Amino acid sequence: MSSDATKGLEGIVAAKTYLSDVRGDVGELIYRGYDINQLAGNIGYEETVYLLHYGKLPNQSELSALKTKLVSYRQLPQGVIDLIQSLPKDTVPMNALRTGISALGCFDSSSEDNSPESLQEKALKIIAQIPIVTAYFHLYRQGRPLVESRPDLNEAANFLYLINGGTEAEKDSVDTLDMCYVLHADHGMNASTFASRVTVATLSDIYSAVTSAIGTLKGPLHGGANEAALNMLREIGDVKNIPKFIEKAKDKNDPFKLMGFGHRVYKNYDPRAKVMQKTCHEVLAEIGKKDDKILQVALELEKIALKDDYFIEKKLYPNIDFYSGITLNAMGFPSTMFTPLFAVARTAGWIAHWKEMYLDPKNRIGRPRQLSVSYTHLRAHETEADL
Ligand code: SDX
Repeated sequence: MSSDATKGLEGIVAAKTYLSDVRGDVGELIYRGYDINQLAGNIGYEETVYLLHYGKLPNQSELSALKTKLVSYRQLPQGVIDLIQSLPKDTVPMNALRTGISALGCFDSSSEDNSPESLQEKALKIIAQIPIVTAYFHLYRQGRPLVESRPDLNEAANFLYLINGGTEAEKDSVDTLDMCYVLHADHGMNASTFASRVTVATLSDIYSAVTSAIGTLKGPLHGGANEAALNMLREIGDVKNIPKFIEKAKDKNDPFKLMGFGHRVYKNYDPRAKVMQKTCHEVLAEIGKKDDKILQVALELEKIALKDDYFIEKKLYPNIDFYSGITLNAMGFPSTMFTPLFAVARTAGWIAHWKEMYLDPKNRIGRPRQLSVSYTHLRAHETEADL
């Protein structure tokens, strides 16, 4: 057994899962046997939820039944709506989301029932309600009235309908958001999935697991990187400033990192980043901003970084967050909504992981070892007076 603590659990196999396979060396992402490039743009979020949860793509009647179920769960308990509207308007949206989801558990009388049937219903309820909590806090903090969901709209279209205050979004915007959902739906043992798996392994309730996941995803090294990457590009401001930021990123004494670059597993290009880059160009061209300054900085930064020995040696490539922020910004989302949108999409994967665990009769509590730093040498010099 290695006596060195593995920093960040790098390379440690924490679980067996049938859900997704992140092939870092070759830059591939597989959902239940399907390459992400086969799925993105060809199936929607609801099909992805079905695929992750049931292991196969749905036929029309299975898809229709899932969509009907999700629509039926969109109504939030009034107590949760009241809570959302009691929060300070400058609450960080990920904190509002974490609070709202935790409150959903308090208003769900079946929250502590971990039977398969009850978990299945709660799983769909949470997938349906997490976007509503997100959208309602967004409307509330902008001082705008809440809007009832539209049962005829799919998840992406209904979310845009809500945050547009009851105006239906263009098909292109719906398709782009839907594709973002698919790309972000699952990703192996990422930090937020891993954190929530540790919660589930104690047989705690599913709402506690979602709260663990949301709190973990928020961090700028993880799901918060999409917002941090856009803020970084804005700070760079112009391609002439890029060399200065590249040097900062390479300076070991400078904590600055290129947000949206690097990945614990991908030591090749993140396949999702390639799809997001293409989508980013399309969205910006669509809205007549193909010469968008931020995109120009992003493209030039990527070009310079990918030729720089530091990034080549450390195998630092753009990850999904590098282009998702620019895309969501071009779609009109405020940057504080980027990570909540990531959470909306990733809920599909989080809950599929928990189903795997709750149904595993050999589930065990997660409990790694620690390397205790000996205090013997410190105690040796203490005297009575020190105690
Ligand atoms: C997501 O795990 C997942 O699957 C996550 C995710 C998902 O879908 O769930 O893919 C989503 O979180 C993507 C990552 C988003 N985060 C960022 O873009 C933040 C910027 N990236 C870095 O913080 C970093 O690359 C991480 C956090 C992504 C990965 O961190 P690791 O694996 O712990 O790598 P490390 O910090 O040990 O870095 C290795 C070396 C270090 O240099 P040395 O100490 O060896 O000299 O590479 C350097 C780092 O300083 N490095 C960077 C860098 N990333 C790593 N240097 C400059 N800029 C960077 N972005």
